Amino acid sequence: MKIIRTKNYDEMSKKAADIVLKKIKTSSFLSLGLATGSTPLGLYKHLIQDYLKSYTSYEYVTTFNLDEYVGLKPHHPDSYHSFMKKHLFHHLDIPTDQTHIPDGIAEDLKSECKRYEKVIQDAGGIDLQILGIGTNGHIGFNEPDTSFHSSTHVVSLADSTRKDNARFFKNPEEVPTHAITVGLKTIFNSKEILLLVSGKNKAPILKQLVEGNINESLPASILKKHNHVTIIADEDALSLLQP
Ligand code: F6R
Repeated sequence: MKIIRTKNYDEMSKKAADIVLKKIKTSSFLSLGLATGSTPLGLYKHLIQDYLKSYTSYEYVTTFNLDEYVGLKPHHPDSYHSFMKKHLFHHLDIPTDQTHIPDGIAEDLKSECKRYEKVIQDAGGIDLQILGIGTNGHIGFNEPDTSFHSSTHVVSLADSTRKDNARFFKNPEEVPTHAITVGLKTIFNSKEILLLVSGKNKAPILKQLVEGNINESLPASILKKHNHVTIIADEDALSLLQP
């Protein structure tokens, strides 16, 4: 895993945007894996700024989001469908039918997971996957002890994840208990992976990831087996590691 050290969150976001934009500009077709949460917001802001200034087109980009809460309708303000529209898709020329997010209100959630996995595979897998990391080491919503061989599946969210994400909800009680997430095998099969890490609250898990072993108890540790992972981390996130 290559580590790029940045001064702060904005520099991390700009570096990530430069990598994503270069990839878009040099690919005839790009399958881009996307994350939600606080971490990629700066990256999305830079992509939108670039679009307004340089008109980089997303006509040949297809996106696959990592996850969606079970039980939230796409129009629910806290769904990841709403999040992505608000913070990215609405501002770009990406055709809506090229943006994919699991359906958290599907009647048959197991079939929805199979369908979503197949759409990713039919697109040839993910070319570039953007990831954030949970304070418990999750990537996507693959909580500790998820199998490294997992494909898209339904998860029961860890209490710590529900607490971490309560800040996005008006009423913390409303944080769903389950989600659909792309699995660890699917993430691992991405051709290239960019893990963004920012803030002091991520310093302990980043230290554990970099210095610890590869183990299913730390889902993100699967990334250590991949040969094209770049971590872009700011000084706060790297503060517990040797410079
Ligand atoms: C969300 C996702 C999660 C987040 C992680 C960090 O789509 O995949 O793994 O990346 O929970 O969240 P933030 O960025 O809010 O700290």
